[in-house]
Amino acid sequence: MAVRHFLTLLDLSKEELRAVIHRAIELKALRNQGITIEPFRNKVLGMIFEKASTRTRVSFEAGMAQMGGHALFLSPRDTQLGRGEPIEDSARVISRMVDMVMIRTFGHDILERFAEFSKVPVINALSDSYHPCQLLADLQTYVEHRGSPEGKVVAWVGDGNNMCSSYISAARQFDFELRIACPEGYDPDPAVVAAASDRVTIVRKPQDAVRGADWVATDVWASMGQEDEQRIRMKAFEGFLVDHELMSHANRDAVFMHCLPAHRGEEVSGELLEDEKISVVWDEAENRLHAQKALMEFLLEHSN
Ligand code: CP
Ligand code: NVA
Repeated sequence: MAVRHFLTLLDLSKEELRAVIHRAIELKALRNQGITIEPFRNKVLGMIFEKASTRTRVSFEAGMAQMGGHALFLSPRDTQLGRGEPIEDSARVISRMVDMVMIRTFGHDILERFAEFSKVPVINALSDSYHPCQLLADLQTYVEHRGSPEGKVVAWVGDGNNMCSSYISAARQFDFELRIACPEGYDPDPAVVAAASDRVTIVRKPQDAVRGADWVATDVWASMGQEDEQRIRMKAFEGFLVDHELMSHANRDAVFMHCLPAHRGEEVSGELLEDEKISVVWDEAENRLHAQKALMEFLLEHSN
């Protein structure tokens, strides 16, 4: 058996992804019943964070502890990673000591290089290109609220960023139609779009994406690392606010998702975010915990 990594949603087969979502729902039910299982007893997860995080850190760390394991928070500020030790060397050393590694970083190539030299599973906890763990939680949330996403219409409104690229991967793996509304100049990676051309369309008006959609998602306009572009992006994304008016073009039972943190009044109105008839963002955030437990269980079971 080779080591399995999770750098994008394409690293697992369609069947494997469905099994992980199913297991996440099961693990959530066990936790809600107060039943404890400890498949990660004596296992250690190394967590390398080169960017800030609330949900990702808390969900991985709490998830390991709740299932009998331990998580190590590794920041470049106080490890040799921040002092220029090559990623390949760090991968060989760290992966001889822990059972899994989770990395939040800038360039996606950093994850790929780490994975190439790692003896243990590597999980993408967000790169500039993808955020696949968030999609596991989003898919779990859709399944719980509305059932299978297969054949549904999903609208992405906003930046063609890491989240958007992971929605494109999800459209391929979960067989839904994805309509992306983004301003010119903020399209997702053309290669990622081209690989999913039968599932994905790009439009310029949010209404054109949202019309008849079953699921609407957005994210911040300036991602981590793009703080300097905040002002210019605010201007470029004028008219891309997701609010009740925009949602009125969607199907009657459409849900709204946002990976959070949200900027109320920029990409989403405060009223929509708080409207729990439409917005499932708190379940979506909670599901990071359950989905990642299921993912880690899968990766450990399928790696030698
Ligand atoms: N959605 C998400 O990844 O949140 P954090 O940046 O807080 O981890
Ligand atoms: N696109 C955002 C997601 C944050 C969870 C970012 O990369 O900052």
